[in-house]
Formats: sequence, structure tokens, C-alpha cells
Amino acid sequence: MTIPHSRIAELPAHAGTTVRVRGWVTHLRSSGKVAFIVLRDGSGLLQAVLVKNAVAPETWERFSQLTQETSVEITGEARPDARAPGGFELGVSELTIYGPSPLDYPIQPKEHGVDFLLDNRHFWLRSPRQRAIARIRHEAEQAIRDFFYERDFTLVDTPILTAAIGERSGLFSTEYFDEGTAYLAQTGQLYGEAAAAAFGKIYCFGPTFRAEKSKTRRHLTEFWMVEPEVAFNDSDANMRLQEEFVSYIVARCLERRRPELAELERDVSKLESVKPPFPRVDYTDAVKILQGKGSTVQWGDDLGAEDEALLVEGYDRPIFVFNYPKEAKAFYMKENPADPRTVLCDDCLAPEGYGEIIGGSQREDDHDKLLQRIHEEKLPVDAYGWYLDLRKYGTFVHAGFGLGLERTVGWICGTPHIRETIAFPRMMNRLRP
Ligand code: 4AD
Ligand code: MG
Repeated sequence: MTIPHSRIAELPAHAGTTVRVRGWVTHLRSSGKVAFIVLRDGSGLLQAVLVKNAVAPETWERFSQLTQETSVEITGEARPDARAPGGFELGVSELTIYGPSPLDYPIQPKEHGVDFLLDNRHFWLRSPRQRAIARIRHEAEQAIRDFFYERDFTLVDTPILTAAIGERSGLFSTEYFDEGTAYLAQTGQLYGEAAAAAFGKIYCFGPTFRAEKSKTRRHLTEFWMVEPEVAFNDSDANMRLQEEFVSYIVARCLERRRPELAELERDVSKLESVKPPFPRVDYTDAVKILQGKGSTVQWGDDLGAEDEALLVEGYDRPIFVFNYPKEAKAFYMKENPADPRTVLCDDCLAPEGYGEIIGGSQREDDHDKLLQRIHEEKLPVDAYGWYLDLRKYGTFVHAGFGLGLERTVGWICGTPHIRETIAFPRMMNRLRP
């Protein structure tokens, strides 16, 4: 009878039987008569115990060839042990080495600088902290998909190579056959708006690109954004969808990723208060509050990271700042009928100083006003013909938003820099590994 393979997390189903477990060595310890191997297989950690007198001499000898990160297969009895991590210990009967790992493995149990760790990102991913962050990211992504699926949104995958520009920040471009210059998408939104008229409620979710020369803790050149777009939602309904959405993602991570949050030593009480409704602060009031706190911000400016941090002080959940000045925001936002100097939009700011995680707005649905904004922003009108058509053939009130995945995960995890929230970060000075 062949001995079954088991993932470490699945050992409870094999209690008291002999199994084979495959993975990488993370720790080794030996007393001369008894040896311990801590094994990692991605699903958990397992301590395997080798007793010299109980195994063949060549098996005992093989133990001495093990080093950190050696890949192995271990056969043994899965014994329940309340003290062991995961509640099981493996009583080793056989040991097979798949791939040895030289002693100069770059990541050692000591302090490394972050540049060194990023250069070794392909190995750094194996560390407990990085695995915890990656699992929380995965949970957030699944929560995002579930949230929209449960609410009957249709997922529409929008192109990455585009001719039209969405946002103001830097563009990556490439020659595109006889069609001129193609830009890597900064947003899927414009296409999402077209799809909203076909399906009513849609979202797109994918990588977006910004050639921003900013070396801050919250900027990547490639990041993932989820962008819903809803026909007949106005700006108020848009904010209600955002607070429901953000609360859902946080609640899911609290429900299913407690061990990972504990690994990160995250103060979860700070996440437990994230529930609708989120406080709303009018932009004009926000400027007054900030000036009262000593900021130099002037009416008309977009809010910087420091202003955002000042503004959320004292709040136990994210807040909305709404209706920014036209000149601070993108061309497609709807003019505010009550104050045409402003647009119907919002930024959702995470607490604890994490700053903007969402940018959202009601879209300009008036053809001529939109065309005027395209001219004012000196955008190439040709590239926006199809986008203007949406206002010509059955125009409709609609709104949507974009949530930055890395910033959201960074806040949930409590990581100081968002570069840790994506497997292989892309920044101004980082294209490899
Ligand atoms: O505010 P932004 O630029 O909005 C849009 O792109 C709209 N088209 C969204 C929409 O209405 N459909 O970006 C949205 C979010 C930000 O709030 C932030 O979380 C994230 O995307 N983001 C970045 N994340 C990491 N690195 C960068 N360089 C980012 N730029 C924006
Ligand atoms: Mg924004």
C-alpha cells in the first residue's frame, strides 16, 4: 500500500497513521540521540522527530546533510501533540532529500536591511511575516470578488494597452504598430463606464500602471486596483457602496486571517471598529480643519499624505472627504450643480495615517461639459470619441470608484510600506527580481 502524501494543515485527517510530508527545512536541532526538523510546506509548520535507535543508520546519517531550505520528503507517523505547532508531531521513519541547499542561503535569522531583502524577494517570500501578508492579500482579493459576485455585479476585464488616458499621473508608453503610442492603463474606469451601460453594475480588477516619480511608502509603479461602476448611482450612493465594501473586506480578514494578523502583531481592535457609516467631511471644511491644525494647505490643493494623516486623527474608522475642487481632480468627474467650482467626488482615507485607499466620483454625464473638460485638460479628443459617445447615446447618471489593493492590504496588515504587500513590487528603482 502506498503511503499517502499530506499537506501539514491536513494532518488532523491522518492522526495516528503514517504519511509522507514534503517541504523545506526551516530549523534543525539535535542532541546526538534525538534530532528535530521543523518543516514548512506552505500550509503550516511541522516538527518531525528522528530517534537514532528507531531509524536505519543511513536515515540518521542523512539528517546531518540537512541545512536550512533543503527540500525533503519525510515519512512518519502523525502523532497528536498539544505542545507542537499545529497540534501534530511527525515520528520519522524515513527521510528523502530532494534538493540540498548550500549554507550561504542569503536570508539568515538576523536583521537584514530592506534593500537586501528586496534584492532577495524570491527568498524573502518564504519568511513568516511575508507569508502572513500574502495570505491577507489573498483573503482581501477573494473578499472583493465575493462581495461583487454576491451583489450581482458582472466582472469585466478591461485592456492594459490603451490609447486613452485616465488619470493625470505619469504614463508608461510603448510603440504600437501603425497605431501610434499605446499607454499602459492607469485605470480601467473609462471602459468600465461603457460596460456599465451594458450590464448595469460591473467591476474590473487588475494591474494598473503609473510612471510616478514618487518614492513614498504608498506608491508603486504597478499596483492592483478594483473598480466598480454602477449605472444610476449618484455620489451619495457611491459612498455608501464604498463603506459597505471596505467594511466587508476588513471583516473577512478578521474572520479568517486571525493567525496571520497575530503573526504581524496587528492591533485588531483598530480594525474591529471599521463599520458603516463612515464620517463624511466636505472638502471645504477639511481645508479649514487642516489650517486650524497648522497645515499650509490652500483651497484648491489636493490633499497630501501629511494632510490626510492630520485629518483622520481621532477617527476609529475610515472617513470620506468629498467634493474637491475641479482643478485638483480628473477631467471625468461630474460638476457639482450646487457649487460648480467643485466636483461630485470622494476620497476614502484610512485611519491610523494610512491615507487615501479609494478615489471615487460621479461621472460627468453631460456631453458638452465633458468635451469642454477634455479640451481644458488638453487631452487628445480623438482618443475619447467612444467615451463621449456614451453621453450621446442614452446618457445616464453613474458613479464608481477605485480601491488600491496594496494600500488597503498595507493598512489591514499595519505595514509601514506597501512594497511588502505585493509579491514582486515594481517601484522607480526596482524592476527585479
Ligand atoms: O484616485 P485614483 O487615481 O482613481 C482612479 O484611478 C479612478 N479611475 C478610480 C475610479 O473611479 N474608478 O486611484 C485609485 C486608488 C487610490 O485611492 C489608491 O488606493 C490607489 O488607487 N493608487 C495607488 N496605489 C499604489 N501606488 C500608486 N502609485 C497608486 N496610485 C493610486
Ligand atoms: Mg486619488
